[in-house]
Amino acid sequence: MKLNSVLILCFMLLGNWQLGTAAKSNEPTQINFTQTMPTEGNLILGVFKDGQLGPQGQAIDKASDGALSHAIQAADFEAKTKTTHLITAPMGSGLDQILLVGLGDRDETKTKLQWQDIGGHAIQKAVSLFKTSPVMVADVAELDNRAEITANIAFGAQIGSYYFDKYYTDKKRHKHQQSLSFFTESLAQTRDHFKQELEPVAKGLWYTRNIANEPANVIYPESFVAQWRAHFKGMDNIKIKVLDEKDMLKKGMGAIYGVGQGSQRPPRMMIVEYMGGTNNEAPVVLVGKGITFDTGGISIKGSKNMWNMKFDMAGAAATMGTVYALAGREAKVNVVGIAALAENMPGSKAQRPGDVVTSMSGKTIQIRSTDAEGRLVLADGMYYGDVTYDPTIMVDLATLTGSASRALGRDYGALFTRHDDLVPDFIEAGKASGDEVWQLPLNKNHFKAIENNVADVMNSGPDAPGASAGAAFVGTFVRETTPWVHLDIAGVAWGDKTTPSKGSPGATAFGVRLLNQYIKNNFE
Ligand code: BES
Ligand code: MN
Ligand code: ZN
Repeated sequence: MKLNSVLILCFMLLGNWQLGTAAKSNEPTQINFTQTMPTEGNLILGVFKDGQLGPQGQAIDKASDGALSHAIQAADFEAKTKTTHLITAPMGSGLDQILLVGLGDRDETKTKLQWQDIGGHAIQKAVSLFKTSPVMVADVAELDNRAEITANIAFGAQIGSYYFDKYYTDKKRHKHQQSLSFFTESLAQTRDHFKQELEPVAKGLWYTRNIANEPANVIYPESFVAQWRAHFKGMDNIKIKVLDEKDMLKKGMGAIYGVGQGSQRPPRMMIVEYMGGTNNEAPVVLVGKGITFDTGGISIKGSKNMWNMKFDMAGAAATMGTVYALAGREAKVNVVGIAALAENMPGSKAQRPGDVVTSMSGKTIQIRSTDAEGRLVLADGMYYGDVTYDPTIMVDLATLTGSASRALGRDYGALFTRHDDLVPDFIEAGKASGDEVWQLPLNKNHFKAIENNVADVMNSGPDAPGASAGAAFVGTFVRETTPWVHLDIAGVAWGDKTTPSKGSPGATAFGVRLLNQYIKNNFE
């Protein structure tokens, strides 16, 4: 080949590569740290409320004869957290524009989450203002834990820079950044902390969001398994087992099998073991509802918001995302993630209201509504997890009921348990991580409400509050001696607004940060 044709081919490949990556995948924003102050392009600069610039701000100010501090004063920029102000960079600095970012009070009491939110908010603002990626300079050199602070700002920025814009063919609409850079005075410390503790969680969140955002013609039980398999590839201590519909029949998993029956896409159960702890330590078992699309089945849903039911596998995705995060940071804990996957369709083979199915536990279930399908796939997933692993604790994550979402809105995931002593640790982990939870009741009446005169139980409890009846149903398939927490995330797994830490509208990956934090606090 002649040199010019090689060059043309290279350009074509380059062009295609950019287009190709935009259309096919949505990779986590790459985070870089640098010890060199930029001398061109755009800058994000942290400023505390007292107006006293940090060392890097001071240097810019000095080099520009006080132009920076003058601009801050002239604008009356108070530097409260989550406020920003854009200024033209002082002459001579070589820079184009500086986005001032409020850091609030100069104290050491801000939580990691607050620093993360500062990073997320700053980047979202910068992405909307700048055409090229800026360098962020938190300018916190005087604070003792500056490396950890900068790493947390970068983490917040990384998850805040999530945009699901891969399907836009118009490049001008793309907000996704290839990479972001952060200035730090302690390069090695900042980078190590970020890589070891934070980036694996950010990536777990990222992949969880990607999978929950994908439409159901892209993510169905088999492709869910394939995508997570690809993400887990090359990670140590990971073992993956997948049950197909034949395995389900053999194991007597009639509940998940029944849900999958109405669809061309066969059901799957994906089991990922991460054994980072000691050999004979009982694992934490996480089970996620993985309905890749919920039409309601024969008890079909209304059409208005049905499109949104592509995210009905958010619990299963967050389960996998959590295992990914733990394995990525080499957490010293044994964890098993189980994704109970099926597509709930009203095909000609679909199960009907009134049908009776036998679950793996041996308990029989009368189907009252085929739209209460999440609890059915969980019944087999949770029972399997309970008897296979004898867990130290079992947590299930599910977009289970509209009722939980109506009760707690978008602010809290709904927590249910028979073991009230577990609640404070979950509330604490929620506050620290940003995935907050609130307890709703689960009592004997809720178990009573799902008793049935044809089968052992039925899959809805018309006389009980919906979320509690759902919790009682899934709890029926976990031994009472197993510490167990049910998280109904129907209201929080999806967001309509951009927030610093939950990112742009769409899947929030609720559960990944909560469970990562809970496990870190209680098991590592
Ligand atoms: N996936 C839905 C719950 C849901 C609704 C999640 C809205 C997010 C937003 C679930 O499978 C469902 O249909 N639940 C029914 C249960 C009822 C039939 C007992 C519900 O909540 O109405
Ligand atoms: Mn449903
Ligand atoms: Zn559902």
